[in-house]
Amino acid sequence: MYTIFDLPKIPKHLILSVEEVLELDNKFTGLSNNYSTHNVQDELKDYLQLMFPEHQFFRYQLLKGNIPIHIDVSRDIAINYIIDAGGSNVSTAWYDDTRTTAIESVVFQPNIWHSIRTDIPHNVNNITGQRFAITITKGEDKKLLNKATREREEYDKLINTSSKNGD
Ligand SMILES: [Fe+2]
Repeated sequence: MYTIFDLPKIPKHLILSVEEVLELDNKFTGLSNNYSTHNVQDELKDYLQLMFPEHQFFRYQLLKGNIPIHIDVSRDIAINYIIDAGGSNVSTAWYDDTRTTAIESVVFQPNIWHSIRTDIPHNVNNITGQRFAITITKGEDKKLLNKATREREEYDKLINTSSKNGD
């Protein structure tokens, strides 16, 4: 369900603070107050692009509270790098198709590159603070071209735009 990579740690000066990241646009198209993603700034993008030349999306990810069991909409695999785990025993778990039985679980340490399967039901448990990570996606895959997904994204965008306009 996951692979640990032997890759260098990201230099600290390239990583923005949570406060700075929250100032960046939220790229997550789903409806959640507990989850947001933000394209990394250009300086970090250039650094990560050299490390992962075939990948396209480089984002900060902020998670709070319980992340319910889900399958990622737009990707089968994610490459992640935890900056702040968000607690002392935060675990990522994968489930069988019934979504009731965990089949594997792991506590990822900060500053270690790894990949996870995101096409199998999974969640994140025991977040007590705010989990802060970098998440990398290879590119738009076939699922994003799926009509229902596109329509949902357009709907979410519309909702976000109209609520902003209503403020
Ligand atoms: Fe996920």
